[in-house]
Amino acid sequence: MTNQQSHDSAPVPGELVPAPARETEKGAIARPVLSAQDIVVEYKAAGQPPVRAVRGVSLDLLKGETLGVVGESGCGKSSIGRALVQLPPPTSGEVHLGGDRLTGLTQRQLRPLRRRIQLVFQDPISSLNPRRSALEIVADPLRLARHPNPRQVALKALDEVGVDERMADRRPHELSGGQCQRVSIARAVVQNPEVLICDEPVSALDVSVQAAVLNLLERMKVEHDLSMVFISHDLAVVKNISDRVAVMYLGRLCEIATADELYARPLHHYTELLLASIPNPGDKERRRRPGAVPPRPVTAAGCPFAARCPAATELCLREAPELSEAEPGHLVACHHPANTPASGPAPASAPTSQRPF
Ligand SMILES: Nc1ncnc2c1ncn2[C@@H]1O[C@H](COP(=O)(O)OP(=O)(O)OP(=O)(O)O)[C@@H](O)[C@H]1O
Ligand code: SF4
Ligand SMILES: [Mg+2]
Repeated sequence: MTNQQSHDSAPVPGELVPAPARETEKGAIARPVLSAQDIVVEYKAAGQPPVRAVRGVSLDLLKGETLGVVGESGCGKSSIGRALVQLPPPTSGEVHLGGDRLTGLTQRQLRPLRRRIQLVFQDPISSLNPRRSALEIVADPLRLARHPNPRQVALKALDEVGVDERMADRRPHELSGGQCQRVSIARAVVQNPEVLICDEPVSALDVSVQAAVLNLLERMKVEHDLSMVFISHDLAVVKNISDRVAVMYLGRLCEIATADELYARPLHHYTELLLASIPNPGDKERRRRPGAVPPRPVTAAGCPFAARCPAATELCLREAPELSEAEPGHLVACHHPANTPASGPAPASAPTSQRPF
């Protein structure tokens, strides 16, 4: 798919991705704590065609789960993450936090709801105010909410994330990247939100620090009873931290399943390609990459992955596949899913539209 097509603003049908209803230990059905329907994010600049970064994404986040969101650079991961927290609100579509609609509200109406959904950014240093100390950064949202004792609560939150009192008066440039990300996490959880959106929270950190920050996020999730959206281009990290994983391609969701299922048996050819690119010297099968695909023309009406897909047929060029449940809890947008008994090269006697190129 060309850049022009990826920026094409032709309307696309909404893709409803309901989370599978999940029974809790007490037998109650888990309800989504965050729900997004048909989210579209467009960026407009004067004299330029709009960039459609997210093209009709719907998803549910269940209480207590971590939903990983993966995909290549530029596929719209950050755009959907920011749309969920209304920074800025999406171009269209709806976001509900519990029973409250977040979309369509004024900034004033949104203010009391913001406490309940927080964002941790990729670049910890630039996401913190350089003129404020770590303590002030964490205490500021409490002050805004007229908390009676912001200093004490902020100090406790900093201590909880491993930033001790001696570092509390330091400004971001006097802290390491890992310490800044700990301050970011303290700021995000200090008001006890229900949902944390983490946008590549460890990508900018040294490998040695990444594991410590991931462990911290997991601990915060348990201790603060959080539900989490974890955005990353690193499939290995996402696998370890996520209950379910959603795969994005050019602004759309192409597959969503439990982490175990998705990594063991990807149904979308793009997911297969992504997994094949994870370095894992011990796994010869997984490292076998799909062969190069000869360039072929693609159409805006067809599957967005057709230009790169080894299994594309004429049908794929004609019709974009809808995201639908291929197996319980496993949704895929593909006319000819991989790793199913029916997959594999179509016989020469198959109808033309089913034959591979
Ligand atoms: N403020 C903006 N103005 C114009 N275009 C934007 C803006 N932000 C993002 N885009 C474009 O929207 C598309 C999606 O960007 P986004 O940052 O959401 O992708 P991403 O998956 O998070 O990428 P990365 O992995 O590199 O962070 C890209 O084509 C990007 O260039
Ligand atoms: S719909 Fe066709 S082109 Fe798209 S991923 Fe499936 S097989 Fe490949
Ligand atoms: Mg991003």
